[in-house]
Amino acid sequence: MKQAAWVGTVVRLVGFFGLSFTVFTGCADTPNVVPEAPSTPVARVDGERLIAADSEPGNWMSYGRTYSEQRFSPLGAVNDQNASELGLAWSYDLNTARGVEATPIVVDGVMYTTSSWSIVTALDARNGVHLWTYDPKVKKEKSKHTCCDVVNRGVAVWEGQVIFGALDGRLIALDAATGKVNWEVATFDPTLPYTITGAPRIIKDKVLIGNGGAEFGVRGFIAAYDVDTGERLWRFFTVPGDPSLGFENDAMKMAAMTWSGEWWKLGGGGGTVWDSMAYDPELDLLYIGVGNGTPWNQKIRSPGGGDNLFLSSIVALRPDTGEYVWHYQTTPGESWDYTATQHIILADIELEGEPRKVLMQAPKNGFFYVIDRTNGALVSANNYIQITWATHVDKETGRPVEAEGARYEDAKFMLYPSYLGGHNWHPMSYNPETGLVYIPVLDIPAFYAQPAEEFEYRPDYTNLGIDGITAGLPDAQAERDALRPLIAGRLVAWDPKTQKEAWRVEHSGSWNGGTLSTAGNLVFQGTADAKFVAYTADKGEPLWEFPTQTGVVAPAMTYAVDGEQYVTVNVGWGGAFALVFGEYVHAKSTPNMSRVLTFKLGANGSLPEPKWKPVVTFNPPAQSGTPESIKLGHAQYQDTCMGCHGLNAVSGLLIPDLRGSALIHDQAAFDNVVLGGALRDKGMASFASELDAEKSAAIRAYVIQQAIRGQQVQASQ
Ligand code: HEC
Repeated sequence: MKQAAWVGTVVRLVGFFGLSFTVFTGCADTPNVVPEAPSTPVARVDGERLIAADSEPGNWMSYGRTYSEQRFSPLGAVNDQNASELGLAWSYDLNTARGVEATPIVVDGVMYTTSSWSIVTALDARNGVHLWTYDPKVKKEKSKHTCCDVVNRGVAVWEGQVIFGALDGRLIALDAATGKVNWEVATFDPTLPYTITGAPRIIKDKVLIGNGGAEFGVRGFIAAYDVDTGERLWRFFTVPGDPSLGFENDAMKMAAMTWSGEWWKLGGGGGTVWDSMAYDPELDLLYIGVGNGTPWNQKIRSPGGGDNLFLSSIVALRPDTGEYVWHYQTTPGESWDYTATQHIILADIELEGEPRKVLMQAPKNGFFYVIDRTNGALVSANNYIQITWATHVDKETGRPVEAEGARYEDAKFMLYPSYLGGHNWHPMSYNPETGLVYIPVLDIPAFYAQPAEEFEYRPDYTNLGIDGITAGLPDAQAERDALRPLIAGRLVAWDPKTQKEAWRVEHSGSWNGGTLSTAGNLVFQGTADAKFVAYTADKGEPLWEFPTQTGVVAPAMTYAVDGEQYVTVNVGWGGAFALVFGEYVHAKSTPNMSRVLTFKLGANGSLPEPKWKPVVTFNPPAQSGTPESIKLGHAQYQDTCMGCHGLNAVSGLLIPDLRGSALIHDQAAFDNVVLGGALRDKGMASFASELDAEKSAAIRAYVIQQAIRGQQVQASQ
């Protein structure tokens, strides 16, 4: 097995970077100076402290603040009476220019955060003074294996170490005081199309991390690593491998009964654990959210149907051993990229007079689930957004009742929610005082159809198995403009007891930030149109906002140092929607300004004026391609380029808009980049294994057509 050489290889680097002083790329003003270890111990988080997190509300010690991942802060000094007095206390420029999704961790006055390309930064939480930066120097061409930007959602801290997953699969432990590497381990072979974007969690000295890559073709797993050495202790695969090689455990044997065909030959089935985890210390259960299948289209992946366990499921495991305990599958036989990797929240709530230990999730498929977390039984489910793929969830069987035609086997299907979900990775929050869950909702349609050409597996790139042109936006500009009002987004306060919406705030953009709720009767959310807003938690009334100069996708967090409460949000537009839906990106979102913004009462700091103007300068050459080659180019573009350069060649401007590129004037120069990989060190990998010269020429012809059209649209405005 190719993988065996990598997994479990522990590289000890203790003392290696000892005296060093290294400058990290693209960051002239914050050199990676390694400070002397301070005499007071830092980041001394352990299980006891984390379980008792409510007794020290000034710290935010884990990704979702507590093991229950409620993202509710008991701090109430900033509240609905005084939120209008919030102002910018300090800001810190992260010196990266792609999406920032991380939740900062704050322990004992020090903040640890990540930005794109898995770069970790430690700051003084009182004033933003830079302490250290660690850049794992991920090879930029690894971005070919990212579906949704080169993002990272944050670190975990434990006993003086800061631990994070790098995009290329390395799990790295840093000394929290100095940012020096203690150990690092490859969790997978980086040449395989896995990536890490999620934040690790730590339970009983074991670091838990999964990975992404189900758009490409990988076999999903989560593994536990020793917090002191990085040694791998257990691994749980989420989908079965080739049955002829035997099964790792009974859970895989059970799962294999729900698959058909030869899925392991199409990349491994998918089911990646790329984001959510939660832990109940009393029940001693770790809950993980499992992703979509590879390819998306079940007819190709598992031609005889079946549930395809554990795709799109919540699975409960024993954290000591990785042993399977129970699962609940949200979307059996998923065929739409309906991951169940969305945020999992644990809460004890009263239902019909009974206290219940529940788990809540609003996965991509549009239903809000309340599940008994002791045994995985469905308590209730209702759709938190309009949906077309199913009518309801059957209470008896716990299964969705699918709508006719939803599997797009015979005809094109207009799907709600889209492949981006009714809710994506952007964390929700649960406020035990209002009893409401605050969901960043995406309301976008998608169009699914069987592929026009026979499916061909691509070992190093995406394998969706749906028709790229249908999935793209309509070719005619008028039709695309007509879609505009359908591409919506909002903040929804959901009552899990009644399974009903309590209130909503419509946003002008779709792809908004995660939420934070506090004991001050507040909900904080950043938006796609570059604002950071405080609402009342009970009614959703806006109280205060701050112009962030760039779209916000990360969730806010709050902490206190020396008796003062601070509210922090990382800003920096990016992620899947930002790249793909260029045409529907709010102009105020772009380009990216990656920053940490921290607010407190009575502060009045300001940001420097932004210099950017989000426009494309068109200068297309005359069209020399034939109608046939433009058509071929359209299909090839949607299958291979749109994930970064945007649907229909309209970019979200984080990555160049090809319609404005000088390289479309010259096929050789274009090929030099697209096939030759001339810009691989800047994140534009070679696509020579997916395309040949004819296809590259066809793509160029298509981009020229789109540039000519774009120029006409711009001239008419
Ligand atoms: C995984 C993301 C990704 C994908 C997929 C991708 N690109 Fe790129 N591309 C980039 C990035 C990032 C850059 C900018 C590199 C730089 O900073 O110079 C880029 C730059 C380019 C440029 C140079 C633009 C200029 O004027 O500087 C061309 C041409 C290009 N890409 C063509 C393509 C084509 C054609 C495809 C599909 C076959 C494609 N790219 C797919 C990420 C991607």
